[in-house]
Amino acid sequence: MAHDLFEAARDAMAKCHAPYSKFPVGAAIRADDGRIHAGANIEVISFPEGWCAETTAISHMVMAGGTRIREVAVIAEKLELCPPCGGCRQRLAEFADADTLVHLCDAEGIKKTLRMDELLPHAFVTEALG
Ligand code: THU
Repeated sequence: MAHDLFEAARDAMAKCHAPYSKFPVGAAIRADDGRIHAGANIEVISFPEGWCAETTAISHMVMAGGTRIREVAVIAEKLELCPPCGGCRQRLAEFADADTLVHLCDAEGIKKTLRMDELLPHAFVTEALG
């Protein structure tokens, strides 16, 4: 089940630039056209300027012309399961639906699956911004 997405997240994690936290993270997104876009966390010596694996993956999806997220996998080398941080939940929600699945992985594969609306209940949405 979504093993290809797990493998893409795991392979992306190996490309992280995390010399400060030494906390490698990988993420992979399956877009609505079926294509997979992966990313790793990228850190900067001015610590707050770095960004998460999920954000890298979203950037790749958008730049490749993807518009909607169908499924996500996340893996962190040093954490049994790595739920996306708060900021990434909002970024994922921008392109996901309430029932989009987010798979949390360990080194073997998918260990837990959550829906987007479980990860980010009461998400910020408004029509006031168009
Ligand atoms: N990190 C991610 O890449 N994704 C998350 O959802 C949680 C945190 C990264 C950011 C930073 O490079 C390192 O993990 C430690 O916080």
